[in-house]
Amino acid sequence: MLRTNTCGELKLVNKNEKVTLSGWVQRTRDLGGMTFIDLRDRYGITQLVFNMETNPKLCEAARKLGREFVIKVTGEIAERINKNLKLATGEIEIVVNDLEVLNTSKVPPFTIEDNTDGGEELRMQYRYLDLRRNVNRDNLKLRHLMAIETRKYMTSQDFIEIETPYLIKSTPEGARDFVVPSRMNAGQFYALPQSPQTFKQLLMVAGYDKYFQIVKCFRDEDLRADRQPEFTQIDCEMAFVEQDDVLNAFEGLAKHLFKTIKGLNVDDFPRIQYVDAMKYYGSDKPDLRFDMKFVELNDPAKGKGFQVFDSAELVVGINAEGCGGYSRKQLDKLTDFVRKPQIGAKGLVYIKCNNDGTFKSSVDKFFGQEELNRLAKQFNAKPNDLILILAGEKNRTRKALCELRLEMGSRLGLRDPNVFKPLWIVNFPLLEWNEETQCYHAMHHPFTSPKKEDFSMLENTPGEVRANAYDLVINGVEIGGGSIRIHNKQLQQRMFKLLGFTEEEAQSQFGFLMNAFEYGAPPHGGIAFGFDRWVALFAGTDSIRDVIAFPKNNAGRDVMIDSPSAISDDQLKEIHMRLDFNE
Ligand code: AMO
Repeated sequence: MLRTNTCGELKLVNKNEKVTLSGWVQRTRDLGGMTFIDLRDRYGITQLVFNMETNPKLCEAARKLGREFVIKVTGEIAERINKNLKLATGEIEIVVNDLEVLNTSKVPPFTIEDNTDGGEELRMQYRYLDLRRNVNRDNLKLRHLMAIETRKYMTSQDFIEIETPYLIKSTPEGARDFVVPSRMNAGQFYALPQSPQTFKQLLMVAGYDKYFQIVKCFRDEDLRADRQPEFTQIDCEMAFVEQDDVLNAFEGLAKHLFKTIKGLNVDDFPRIQYVDAMKYYGSDKPDLRFDMKFVELNDPAKGKGFQVFDSAELVVGINAEGCGGYSRKQLDKLTDFVRKPQIGAKGLVYIKCNNDGTFKSSVDKFFGQEELNRLAKQFNAKPNDLILILAGEKNRTRKALCELRLEMGSRLGLRDPNVFKPLWIVNFPLLEWNEETQCYHAMHHPFTSPKKEDFSMLENTPGEVRANAYDLVINGVEIGGGSIRIHNKQLQQRMFKLLGFTEEEAQSQFGFLMNAFEYGAPPHGGIAFGFDRWVALFAGTDSIRDVIAFPKNNAGRDVMIDSPSAISDDQLKEIHMRLDFNE
């Protein structure tokens, strides 16, 4: 080994020991008689001292070292005069008597510090330098620990990890597939899995009744902070289970991760019906770190001559407690916020609950004090509260109020990243009407089973059928989703028909699954968690890129290796492809 110890472990108890360390030069400080170097590796930083008086040659050599040079030093551990108690090794330093330069380094394009001067694009281009920074190292370590704890827990519950193939055939999970041309089968393509959905179901047919896998998935979709074209799932499936069994099993995993990774004992997760989540939070992923529930006001608000309310499908509001003192300017800012195109409300109505028991609102013309009092009562509003109301088409208004609720939560400091509020959303609708294609889409995926009690609605009112589908939501982030599956060929065929597949299309794409259902498929269900999202949540960051070693940018590019990129004509020929961009 080129070292006896790491740069993160030496303490005062090691005083006078002779050690060899290797690492990167973080910083050099030349104080004339002495030169100090901060030597860094994955484990920490250790201070090196070179003394001009006792060893001038070595000290000269140390002064010449540039940032990020890789060096090996040998020396003796001494107690520091100026201790740095913020550093794990801050009580000691190494008095160096031998120095070897293992490699030089160009001046890095940004500083390898916690507060770096490098912009995101530059850091992505030199990701191997960015990964030397503490924050990234800590995130990747957290990711590793979460994977280990997941494997430990799942193994303790008798699940086995089974790998499924990456070169498969399209599985519809709502995104486009990435496809791979086949050299040996001209004109044919593999698809990369959007998830191992069909394979895990086939494993249930095969009798592996508790499966999991920490697995890469690929989806060609528009990217956001919480979406990458390739991402990782903790994918799970169980046989002989109903919805509650799955929720209980994976609440166990979640609690295990909270306990082992964050040191938290969390209460049982609330289970909220999808319809209630939409009604009270305007979202199927509500942030429950704060209350501020929606209050619907159609009855008390309509019929007072205010056209916006009278013509609205829904009048609904929230109570921002303690915000009754908001100024005109602050209220205008909120109005501007809800009017942003991505929020989409036309305007905002407010009612300020004054400290003297009176009210001031933006609709005073239509609502007298008594009527405002009636509205305020619906929210249990107190003096100094601020009621914010939106009105319009139901779904759009709920969505806009959801954004306003989150904005107010953030402004009021109610969204502490160190507080975790997990919950299950249950009983999603089975289908979703798509205006563009004028047909139903599976809200989760086509293999999700309808609720038994809703079977009779499948023919005439399919849009009202509920699914045995559920999501795990933590702090407003969809961490996972799953369902109880269809395990019967006829029902699966009926489902494909509802989704607009012809019999031939269903057979050619999913015949393998429906055939398997004819050979003793057990009832089964499962879930998949977005591993990157979960790690990001525990790391306290909004972007999953921060917890992926080599992520892609928003255009789906890896700017470090410059991919995707063109391939040679020979390669194209081999896979029987011809590029013609003029078409
Ligand atoms: P679903 O499509 O809901 O379900 O995906 C499960 C979870 O994966 C995460 N996720 C993503 N994370 C990062 N980037 C993406 N592009 C991305 N897409 C999804 C989310 C999501 O909750 N086969 C089903 C699971 C099942 O039914 O068992 C599935 O994949 O956190």
